[in-house]
Amino acid sequence: MPRTPKPIPITNRPLAWSAEVLSTIGEPQRLQFGSSRVKRMSHAVLSTPHLKETLAWFRQTFGLLATDEFYKGDRSNVVGSFNRVDRGTEGVDHHVLNLYHGATPGLQHVSYEVQDIDDLFVGFNHLTRLNKYEHMRGVGYHVPGGQVFDYWLDPWGQMHEHWLTTRRFTATSPINLMPAPKEHDPTSRFAQTIMPDSTLCAHPWLAELGDSALGETLSDLSGVERSAYEYAWLPVGEAVTARALRDAELKPAGLWARRSRVSLRGAPLLMQELFLPAIGRA
Ligand SMILES: [Fe+2]
Repeated sequence: MPRTPKPIPITNRPLAWSAEVLSTIGEPQRLQFGSSRVKRMSHAVLSTPHLKETLAWFRQTFGLLATDEFYKGDRSNVVGSFNRVDRGTEGVDHHVLNLYHGATPGLQHVSYEVQDIDDLFVGFNHLTRLNKYEHMRGVGYHVPGGQVFDYWLDPWGQMHEHWLTTRRFTATSPINLMPAPKEHDPTSRFAQTIMPDSTLCAHPWLAELGDSALGETLSDLSGVERSAYEYAWLPVGEAVTARALRDAELKPAGLWARRSRVSLRGAPLLMQELFLPAIGRA
């Protein structure tokens, strides 16, 4: 007989700012400092150079359903896909698996559901006070799926997420197909980042971003300082301009470019972007 696991009980009150709790006078809930208490593993995010085939395998093998997908250019060119389990009319998480196209296959992060919103913030405070681990992103809110997140790195450079969901989906919830954020659009600009080995040693995840836009990732992180942009016209004879125009149909005499210096918790990077001819066209 298969055993149905019992849910782990939640010991805190729900949502500390709810009207019910705020109306409770004289009975304050005293939370203890410490780690967030993980209830379960909620999802994983993987990159793959074979997105279509990998998605097909996971869907055929586990019966996963697409919730949100992102495309570049043509709507059939899916570059990222959030997938949930099929439990019929029962509500499930927005995704148990997020697959996105990347140059190399790999694990981007694993996510763990914690007790409640108090527990997530208490865990954030705990890790911050420890001052021992690198904080990546958050506490924040993923709008498409309605999730609260907080990302940290372990000592080996692997990212993990504390997570809570606010929305549930059923087997008949419609798929949501969206254009990938402009930052991901390779037709608008050519980006290049230069960094010393010491920066890569301090932040090895920088080498595993795949197709993810570094500028967008950095904008969500704490401890990032960015200089003002410097602008310049780079003639086609420049090596970086030639690289940017390698696949372009139009071959102008040069490209406008901008660059800025970034300090990622003291580690230097130089980010430069060249604006491609597609900009300004309908
Ligand atoms: Fe996640």
